[in-house]
Amino acid sequence: MYYVGIDLGTSAVKLLLVNAGGEILNTVSKDYPLFFPFPGWSEQNPEDWGKAVLEGLRELLNGFDASMVKGIGCGGQMHGLVILDEHDEVIRPCILWNDGRTEDEVSYLNETVGKEKLSEYTANIAFAGFTAPKLLWVKKHEPENFRRIRRIMLPKDYINYILTGVHSCDYSDASGMLLLDVKHKCWSKEMMEICDVNESQLPELYESCEVTGTVKPKIASMLGLGEDVKVVAGAGDNAAAAIGTGTVGEGNCNISLGTSGTIFISSNKFGVDPYNALHSFAHADGNYHLMGCMLSAASCNKWLCEDILHTKDYAAEQKDITPDKLGNNRVYFLPYLMGERSPINDTDARGLLIGMSMDTKRSDLVQAVLEGVGFAIRDSFEVAKSLGIPVHSSMICGGGSRSKLWQKMIANILNIELTVPKTEEGPGYGGAMLAMVGTGAYKNVRECCDGLISVKETVKPDPEIAARYESQYQKYKKIYPCVKELYKDLK
Ligand code: XUL
Repeated sequence: MYYVGIDLGTSAVKLLLVNAGGEILNTVSKDYPLFFPFPGWSEQNPEDWGKAVLEGLRELLNGFDASMVKGIGCGGQMHGLVILDEHDEVIRPCILWNDGRTEDEVSYLNETVGKEKLSEYTANIAFAGFTAPKLLWVKKHEPENFRRIRRIMLPKDYINYILTGVHSCDYSDASGMLLLDVKHKCWSKEMMEICDVNESQLPELYESCEVTGTVKPKIASMLGLGEDVKVVAGAGDNAAAAIGTGTVGEGNCNISLGTSGTIFISSNKFGVDPYNALHSFAHADGNYHLMGCMLSAASCNKWLCEDILHTKDYAAEQKDITPDKLGNNRVYFLPYLMGERSPINDTDARGLLIGMSMDTKRSDLVQAVLEGVGFAIRDSFEVAKSLGIPVHSSMICGGGSRSKLWQKMIANILNIELTVPKTEEGPGYGGAMLAMVGTGAYKNVRECCDGLISVKETVKPDPEIAARYESQYQKYKKIYPCVKELYKDLK
């Protein structure tokens, strides 16, 4: 039997064909455009995702017996607002997770409704990228579009809707809408009222591994699939990546270095960060997790290399950064190219390179960017530590984690051991695993993780480098408070 895992990312969709033993038989990646209509805004066309997924599926199955596919599971970029009208037409481009336009709506929610109430209703406070503030933004700025909304969905749910015609969502992804009562796993009546939406516009809720529908006959015959290919609810990409790296159970950690950077701590019980700096979300294994999300991680390196230095040879840019240089750079970088979510929640923040001198080299800038991302992850890591959550080691996944240098930097900046799983395809692999569980190949997600996830290597911190980074982190921490107020004037 085969299973398909889909990772609906921000730069591309990645599709995996996996057999019953968990072996990846084929992978396909399809890009689509990302639009920044104004500084700090970020949009994509759901139709582009749909096209990429269908074309990707066709390529993925080419040369394989498609009738052996039993299930499909999708992990997708979280929080994006996709709205459909009564004819199932997409009303406007999706406003993405890293879009910062909702500053006014976020302050209305956090200051007027109040953080305490929001936290009571949803276990979280408002952040610019979350879905509820975007609904308020559309209501205010595009009332005609708001009036036409028949269905509200998240990015991967749009894909599931295309495949099955079922309007569904899983709890992990729904947690990031600020419309879900995360503790009780139901839509919050108070939040629906605040956002002026009703339950019939929202998707039906499922656990991530639950089957929500069957691939529509027209799509199945186009792809050569059987008549009974099941689609599971899937998960937000971070929860899916956690499954794909085996991060389940109490107190386990996964760091994802993708377009965003996240630190994800799984838990068997519901818990809220009293400062609401970390998100309190449902996990795709039926439990919960805490998560810190930085909006620009591997995208900072991509920006520097591709947009500024005009190269795609990332490895060549990193080759001069030898171990003796780690923790000795005089250049620092604040990685806030799209503003920042965790833990500072500041839509006005922007990137900053500081500390250059006449002898600063190109590789010092590359190093500063990689380290700045590591230090920003440490900021969320420190919040977790302050809550008494002991994190001594972590899995690591995502495109950025393929750089051995970056792995080493992060292990030393956090001073913890990092584990690299054999399969690097976090969210897509997690999606395929959810499909396996949903179609009965495993009893539950935990068993599936125990059966399929294995370790490729571990990266241990080096006491000398970790000590140098400790002293650098203390300096890094002083930079943002000095420029925080200035960012408002630079808008
Ligand atoms: C998580 C978040 C990002 C996106 C990226 O809260 O916003 O990690 O899910 O795809």
